[in-house]
Amino acid sequence: MPGPNGIAGSMTKLDPAPCRPHVQPGRAFAAEEARSRMTKKLLIRTWGCQMNVYDSERMAEVLAPLGFGPTDRPEDADMVILNTCHIREKATEKLFSELGRLRATKQDRAAAGLPMVLAVAGCVAQAEGAEIAARAPYVDLVFGPQTLHRLPEMVARSARAGGLVLDTDFPEESKFDLLPAERTTQGVTAFLTVQEGCDKFCSFCVVPYTRGAETSRPAAAVLAEAQRLVDAGARELTLLGQNVNAYHGEGAGTLARLIEMLAAIPGLSRIRYTTSHPRDMDDALIAAHRDIPALMPMLHLPVQSGSDRVLAAMNRGHTAADYLRIVEKLRAARPDLALTSDFIVGHPGEDAADHAATLALVREVGFAGAFSFKYSPRPGTPAARAAQLDEPTKDARLQELQALIAEQQLAFNRARIGTTFDVLVTGPGRHPGQIAGRSPWLQAVHAEGSATAGQTLAMRAISATANSLTCVIEDHQQERHAA
Ligand code: SAH
Ligand code: SF4
Ligand code: F3S
Repeated sequence: MPGPNGIAGSMTKLDPAPCRPHVQPGRAFAAEEARSRMTKKLLIRTWGCQMNVYDSERMAEVLAPLGFGPTDRPEDADMVILNTCHIREKATEKLFSELGRLRATKQDRAAAGLPMVLAVAGCVAQAEGAEIAARAPYVDLVFGPQTLHRLPEMVARSARAGGLVLDTDFPEESKFDLLPAERTTQGVTAFLTVQEGCDKFCSFCVVPYTRGAETSRPAAAVLAEAQRLVDAGARELTLLGQNVNAYHGEGAGTLARLIEMLAAIPGLSRIRYTTSHPRDMDDALIAAHRDIPALMPMLHLPVQSGSDRVLAAMNRGHTAADYLRIVEKLRAARPDLALTSDFIVGHPGEDAADHAATLALVREVGFAGAFSFKYSPRPGTPAARAAQLDEPTKDARLQELQALIAEQQLAFNRARIGTTFDVLVTGPGRHPGQIAGRSPWLQAVHAEGSATAGQTLAMRAISATANSLTCVIEDHQQERHAA
């Protein structure tokens, strides 16, 4: 099945994915005109969470009026942006080796009289801007997640003055107010950032330092952007936030109310949200899972550990029993709700009994999938200053946890066999005569047959692997939401 992040494959969230700006359908003339103006080539590589994927799309949109169109090839690129993630170790080292390779490409292009603007964006840029400037002086722009709306100005400044332009401010203005209203991102499924930043300061986490304080976008802005995405073909929206269920934007007040407002948009058939914190899983949101059919029966709810001692050391603000109570309420509200989670093994202070408590919690809940990570000390965070566990212990615990989760994931997928459910068609399948889609539980589906992307068809699962379902189309007539 796809990972909890909604991207197929259990760990693809850290794989770089080239981001391609697209043009909207039904706007052939404007699109043609826009393409002909796209005289420069842009390559964006994206690591990290879905919010970085969203940010990369917005960067492409903000640069399109400057004439930048997409490319996959660094040697053709007039501008390369590396949109980075700082959540676990090695991110900085990986960045510097990638930069080393791009430096050579930049030199080759310069020898041929061609420029290349090299930019580092995202959470490593925010946290390590000065180090990047010192170790890679050939980089032209370094900017953090909150200043991407200033990209055109940064590009102009760099062209005028040369040298490094560094912008890792947490500005007064919101990037969302200054980014282009038009969304050119196409696709049946789309991301929409509604909340950003975090004030929770878990012991292990860099996000409050890289993304800044928690903020929510006003409901009107979210609804307008959702409408534009639906107009461009989106049928399923995933609302994004580092703490998305802490959403408290003007005009809605709670995430539950925002989802209710979004569910009224004609043509929008599926809504998801990620990532939630157990502390913010309030009764209104739990009731929304019961009352709003468009809200998909799947929730990514990271727990990190099943031990109260470790949860306290992590500053999570809840116990294992609190988590189990929330799960119980959710399942009472929506019996077919599937849960996914994140776990950290080997947090400072974790002993064998704590690890056993995590395994016990996993057995008790029964997850449809989960990400699990070895604790990695992040500079500037409290847990990094504590005594650390040895690597072999962390490795052994991770293996044990991952084996249990893999077993549960396969069992969850196999339990769909013989059942019928709605599949949102996302496009053609890998083989001729096949279509690909998504189940309500984010499983990747393939089936023989033909259908248009955006259609929802009733399908029956006939086989399952750890990562996908094979289905047969039950009834074309039952199509619920025409494209
Ligand atoms: N806001 C979310 C988590 C966002 S970070 C929450 O509160 O749960 C995504 C995941 O990365 C986390 O859930 C955690 O499992 C993992 N992670 C974060 N910091 C880490 C670290 N220092 N070492 C290992 N994994 C980490
Ligand atoms: Fe990080 Fe904790 Fe905030 Fe999640 S809630 S982003 S883990 S500090
Ligand atoms: Fe990584 Fe930043 Fe997201 S650290 S996980 S890209 S918020």
